[in-house]
Amino acid sequence: MAKKGTDIQKAANILKQGRLVAIPTETVYGLAANAYNNDAIARVFEAKQRPSFDPLIVHSHSIESVKDFTMGMDPLLEKLAGKFWPGPLTLLLDRKNVIPDLVTSGMKRVAVRLPDHEITINLLKSIDFPLVAPSANPFGYVSPTSADHVVSKLGEHVEYVLDGGNSAIGIESTIVGIDDERAVIYRLGGLEIRDIEKIIGEVDVKPRSTSNPKAPGMLHSHYSPLKKVIVGNISELRNRYKNNNYGIIRFSGNIEKRNEVVLSPTGNIREAAKNLFSALRSMDESDVSIILAEPAPPEGLGLAINDRLKRAST
Ligand code: TXA
Ligand code: MG
Repeated sequence: MAKKGTDIQKAANILKQGRLVAIPTETVYGLAANAYNNDAIARVFEAKQRPSFDPLIVHSHSIESVKDFTMGMDPLLEKLAGKFWPGPLTLLLDRKNVIPDLVTSGMKRVAVRLPDHEITINLLKSIDFPLVAPSANPFGYVSPTSADHVVSKLGEHVEYVLDGGNSAIGIESTIVGIDDERAVIYRLGGLEIRDIEKIIGEVDVKPRSTSNPKAPGMLHSHYSPLKKVIVGNISELRNRYKNNNYGIIRFSGNIEKRNEVVLSPTGNIREAAKNLFSALRSMDESDVSIILAEPAPPEGLGLAINDRLKRAST
């Protein structure tokens, strides 16, 4: 069973031996392994029960260090990196050969990010290789935003969890790449579209906000071990499901009944995003049989919240 702690040296030693450590980031916790070591990467897929055609994000500690394993950056992406790294932004960049095929499912581009979390940045500086780190959850399940989340669902498969507290943003990174010379958002996430557009102008958003539809075997709907999630107007849903033992996740307001979670009493979108995955997990662990969820206002981070609710509901 995984141990939790804050020992960066210990984490570095485990990683150097090709084994797995869960790491905190500002978005969600990641399941990390040496990005240059095929055996270590294979362990990540195995631990998560993740299909090998779903590529991984590589984490590094500086723009300079990213150059070790990528070719030059498109000027649009360079602007974004300069402005938002470290932060909840993942860029799709042409890879060098040091990145194994297993990381990218054989694709030309590798997903890269500089996480904004002191412990993890210090860990990355103490090793001489970048880290692959998908979210530290079993494939298809809700991403973890605390060390306890990791231990509860993946504890058997990870040796050590670096505990960096609750993830400050709580929703995965926004993925951006270039397609036909235009910037494209492949996954909505912790960095808002409008912040990106302030820097590089209008961007395209892939309709379903899945990651890369060009990726081999892209999955539209995950297997989800979550209880059934239904998104909509709460009073209507309450009425429709009145004969069921339901739980409710509301965006804002006060808790009215038992089995309710409010993401942000004051309707603060950042606070709501931060609490979303914990709310889904606690509902899943409670005795309710279905989860009724209220969407966030569809702007800024609310778009990413609604995207995750929709994914949880299909
Ligand atoms: O915030 C995050 O991004 C977290 C933290 C740990 O950094 N990581 C994360 O990783 O969410 P993961 O593996 O759960 O999600 C990564 C997504 C997947 O949907 C994958 O298909 C996509 O990124 N992806 C990875 N590499 C890609 C590539 N080369 N081209 C297109 N999509 C890619
Ligand atoms: Mg994930």
